[in-house]
Amino acid sequence: MAKKKAKYVCQSCGYVSPGWIGKCPECNSWSSFVEEIQVDAATTAIGKRIAKAKPVSLKDVKGLETERTPTGMPELDQVLGGGLVKGSVLLVGGEPGIGKSTIMLQCAGILSRDRLKVLYVSGEESAAQLRLRSDRLGVSENEIDILSTNSLEDVLQACEEEKPDYIILDSIQTIASDDLNSAAGTVGQVKHVTYRLVELAKSRGITVMIVGQVTKDGYIAGPKVLEHLVDTVLYFEGDYSRGVRILRSVKNRFGPTNEVGLFEMTDKGLLELSSYSFVDDRADNSAGRVFVPVMEGTRAFLIEVQALVAPTFYQFPKRNCMGFDLNRLNMLLAVLEKKGGVNLAGSDIYINVAGGMKITETSADLAICAAIVSSFRDRPIDPHSTFIGEVGLTGVIRPVSNMGSRLSESYKMGIRKYYLPEKVEFDKTIEIGLSINVSKFLDMF
Ligand SMILES: Nc1ncnc2c1ncn2[C@@H]1O[C@H](COP(=O)(O)OP(=O)(O)OP(=O)(O)O)[C@@H](O)[C@H]1O
Ligand SMILES: [Mg+2]
Repeated sequence: MAKKKAKYVCQSCGYVSPGWIGKCPECNSWSSFVEEIQVDAATTAIGKRIAKAKPVSLKDVKGLETERTPTGMPELDQVLGGGLVKGSVLLVGGEPGIGKSTIMLQCAGILSRDRLKVLYVSGEESAAQLRLRSDRLGVSENEIDILSTNSLEDVLQACEEEKPDYIILDSIQTIASDDLNSAAGTVGQVKHVTYRLVELAKSRGITVMIVGQVTKDGYIAGPKVLEHLVDTVLYFEGDYSRGVRILRSVKNRFGPTNEVGLFEMTDKGLLELSSYSFVDDRADNSAGRVFVPVMEGTRAFLIEVQALVAPTFYQFPKRNCMGFDLNRLNMLLAVLEKKGGVNLAGSDIYINVAGGMKITETSADLAICAAIVSSFRDRPIDPHSTFIGEVGLTGVIRPVSNMGSRLSESYKMGIRKYYLPEKVEFDKTIEIGLSINVSKFLDMF
């Protein structure tokens, strides 16, 4: 470890004191001293590296073969870009109870079946609690080493003795190092523990999987630097009402980002779903429901958007969105008013994306407009139709990317009528209604 010396520096004049003092003897300013940690550079890993490193020509550098181990869960492998990379550090974040420990234990079960040594470190649960879960998941008979501890030093010691291929750390917020005085879960500890684990992974070729809790704001508790330190960051999101869980890669040094994997939480653990439609009861023929395929990474999903347009009782009509951007809704309403002549000024408008999904792309603009007009005029839309296109401020409806995937997924889900801004070749028999601009599109209602 690097030697650290604390010193106190006056922020006004730069006077250095070995201890904190209230008034600067040099410039007489009050409460201007701030602690700065002095690290003896000669003894740090970074210090040594700076002294030894020499530039080399890129063409002389030999490439590394990234050794990937498939996890045996195709949905997880897809998110990882083919499997776990040896010596890499993976962070899995998610809200409490979403299923982080479940997927980690299932993964440990599969890896240990292939005679790979897995060390499961639990700072949250006792070995007995883990045993209960492993009985439920059917991995109790597997050779998984369980270590129930809150100390990083215990983990490092266990690594020396057991020489595991994989370490699972559940969770980073419950493990602390003796090097720092602060409690587990503080910014300093989270950073320090992660840094030590990254060092371990790179020097020994151990693959480390870290579980991270997510705060209410949706960020992994601890600093953003945690995400910078690791190679891959996966987030677990969920639709609690249906038990559907989505695993999303937000950072991946060895594969694509924004890929998603789909799972369903059952009493036997997480089941993989190859396809899923976030659509409620198809037979319900109410006005204001529209289906639209949206892309999540390289996959398309058919989701349902709902609009409710009702006369307002307020001085200013209410506009509310669940799963869609409110500013974008306001823009679409302005286009519908100005270019389509739809008078929505006296109506409250609510948008809901069914199944707790979030729409972050513009391809659903046309579907949102269709849902609004359908509810406003109280005319249901054929549940076997879809609307795809981006609406511009000029009222022009623009084509969007990945049309092939969107059409295929919609077709699989029973959609046969497509309202699109462009002519599209598709090898199945479908009906295409061209919607080039907003006023032409409104003619269909
Ligand atoms: N017997 C069961 N049958 C079905 N689902 C269950 C059962 N037991 C637990 N679950 C599901 O597993 C979830 C808990 O999973 P898990 O413990 O893996 O979550 P976690 O993300 O690790 O939570 P935490 O942040 O609290 O550690 C529960 O929310 C529930 O949905
Ligand atoms: Mg857990």
